[in-house]
Amino acid sequence: MKIWAHRGCSYAWPENTLEAFYAACKLPIEGIELDIQLSKDGRLVVIHDETVNRTTDGSGSVAEFTFRELRCLRIQTHPSKDGQKCFTSIPSMEEVFELIRPYCLKKGLLLNIELKNNVIPYEGMEDKILNMAKQFGLEDYVIYSSFNPDSVRLIKEKNPAARTGILASPVSACLEFAKSNPVDALHPYVKNLDITDLRAKTGLPVRAWNVKTYEPFYPSKDFVELQDLEELENAGVTDIFTNVPERYLNEERTNAL
Ligand code: G3P
Ligand code: CA
Repeated sequence: MKIWAHRGCSYAWPENTLEAFYAACKLPIEGIELDIQLSKDGRLVVIHDETVNRTTDGSGSVAEFTFRELRCLRIQTHPSKDGQKCFTSIPSMEEVFELIRPYCLKKGLLLNIELKNNVIPYEGMEDKILNMAKQFGLEDYVIYSSFNPDSVRLIKEKNPAARTGILASPVSACLEFAKSNPVDALHPYVKNLDITDLRAKTGLPVRAWNVKTYEPFYPSKDFVELQDLEELENAGVTDIFTNVPERYLNEERTNAL
């Protein structure tokens, strides 16, 4: 089973921050998943929600802030040793590429960029991210995914060599898309594997994701339900996205990578 850090190490650190990504870079894992939105002035920023309300000290839509304004918002992280509050900020996509690049080139770390364009269909997002990956020389290390099927199609139209994954809750919906569209992987919800003989139906990687009910995010200290990897493998899952990649690393797995 291949392990991906979902929004970085997002139980140990605030999700989708440089801190969460740096922690993930150091682990012997397959890759890092992250989410992108577009600022008012057209910059790619790494944040999951369409609004800044949940993860920062601001409020409002990401699309209504300029990049400079977004940068002023604070994301609370671990306090310093003397108990002082510490903050980080929403990263730009360029910063994340810069941070991750050496780990991609040295140890083959992959990046799954989820285009968050299923709620707001951000015009031009596909071109921006494809061009940026090229500019950083990381085209071979990126997998693009979206819950917006048109966007997954568009990525392939613009660059047939780009690797894509279709996101949907039931794996049957992912499979249906794959029947009539070029796509390189299925990205279903781990609790919605509604096809029993999955491996017989597809040779594509099946990368399953979780929701916060089972895997909370920083700063929650709630119980994390670990997946039964053997069971998932038997069900045809090849990779998992997890908020707690560090908890799946045993010695055998570490040596194998
Ligand atoms: O890309 C897998 C997963 O991240 C999709 O759900 O809501 O965590 O972005 P969400
Ligand atoms: Ca995501």
